[in-house]
Amino acid sequence: MQQQIRTILDQAEVGAELKVSGWLRTRRDSSGFSFLELTDGSCLAGLQVIADQSLVNYTTEIKKLTIGCSVEVSGLLQASPAKGQAVEMVASAIRVLGWADPETYPLQKKRQSFEFLRNFSHLRPRTNALAAVARVRGRLTQAVHLFFAERGFVQVHTPIITTSDCEGAGEMFQISATPGHGQLSRGGSQPEFFGRRAGLTVSGQLQAEVYAQALGRVYTFGPTFRAENSNTSRHLAEFWMIEPEMAFCDLSCNMALAQDLLRFLLADVLMHCSSDLELFDRFVSKGLIGRLQQVVDQEFARITYGEAVDQLLTVDRVFEFPVSWGMDLQSEHERFLCEEVYGRPLIVTDYPAALKPFYMRMNEDGRTVAAMDILVPGIGEIVGGSQREERFDPLLARMEAAGLDVQEYGWYLDLRRYGTVPHSGFGLGFERLVQYVTGMQNIREVIPFPRTPGFAPC
Ligand code: 4AD
Ligand code: MG
Repeated sequence: MQQQIRTILDQAEVGAELKVSGWLRTRRDSSGFSFLELTDGSCLAGLQVIADQSLVNYTTEIKKLTIGCSVEVSGLLQASPAKGQAVEMVASAIRVLGWADPETYPLQKKRQSFEFLRNFSHLRPRTNALAAVARVRGRLTQAVHLFFAERGFVQVHTPIITTSDCEGAGEMFQISATPGHGQLSRGGSQPEFFGRRAGLTVSGQLQAEVYAQALGRVYTFGPTFRAENSNTSRHLAEFWMIEPEMAFCDLSCNMALAQDLLRFLLADVLMHCSSDLELFDRFVSKGLIGRLQQVVDQEFARITYGEAVDQLLTVDRVFEFPVSWGMDLQSEHERFLCEEVYGRPLIVTDYPAALKPFYMRMNEDGRTVAAMDILVPGIGEIVGGSQREERFDPLLARMEAAGLDVQEYGWYLDLRRYGTVPHSGFGLGFERLVQYVTGMQNIREVIPFPRTPGFAPC
């Protein structure tokens, strides 16, 4: 394999004979030669190539190269006299692999808005910003696995097709087989492949609980689907979620793990993606790196839901949604608390039971549950988790109150019938994490192929 520009810039020595391939970022002509800037996506920095007029295809091809053309360059690495780069390559041969007609190629040198680029999911990763997002996202994925492996967690592949709506919010996409290929459902004439209603998972939690109650510490990290009809900068219909689940762990152990995970991930990208983060710091969100470093260095703030409501009631500020005990915290409340009151990530615990799903553990007071959400500046909720209800009777009561078909959840109740243990877990929205780390305003920019209501082009 050819060397990547990343390793050439890091390690290759002046005088080395090399071959590199990539796409043209710019061509500047001087008298008797041209400067080409080449990128191969391996890093933000490009490689400067000097193409002399003595090259056989200089006038026929090289002078016609435009942004986006792909080329293979052979040549010699030399120290660069220009500032801003240590080395450059003097080409001995340049082979054009693919042309990119400048009349129709949508990506041009001038800055183009992220909204415009969304029309080109298939080309936008060639821009500096979207390529940087992809590299950071890839690194974060690795760091997630690293974090859990170091702490003795086993990764479990929870199903994508499921028959239980974990969050009970009625946001599950239904799936059906091609008519004629399914079995008859128990009740009706509608053919159903699985013999019952099935959908795309909204969370791997319930199945992760099964494995936590056998292996102790597990996590799942996979695609998650919600038919949420909300066109916001923080919601997708398909997103990825990281969900650890731990036996023998209460709410405070759960909060400690979530905080450790977030700080670990931030520290990891600060270390491994520094040039990409510098790009975001300069062009997307000023001061980003300093803010991320502060999060790594500081404990998160913690308050209960009741304290949050009291604080919101006493501040001199008019909210669009009026505040009272029992209401769900809206984005404006969450952001006010963590951005203006605390100025750092904030863990809010012990929400009213009525606001949260059936599986959360009822507190002594009989009206709040052992829930925890982590809110971060600029985004709001990034983590949602809880201690789970491990006691049979209170769980059954919550399921009935929530109107669940208890028959269908017999397996979930079995976990409380046989060797039940205290256990906890949470879900970290992966795209919200990537948004937080990159400072990107809209969640559609941090997933390669976003799916939102009315939008799923390729
Ligand atoms: O708070 P949520 O709904 O929690 C659960 O699904 C639990 N079962 C997790 C668990 O305890 N194992 O979702 C968790 C996180 C949210 O905090 C948010 O970051 C993200 O998932 N999320 C979304 N991200 C993008 N688009 C959406 N539509 C999202 N819905 C939730
Ligand atoms: Mg939530």
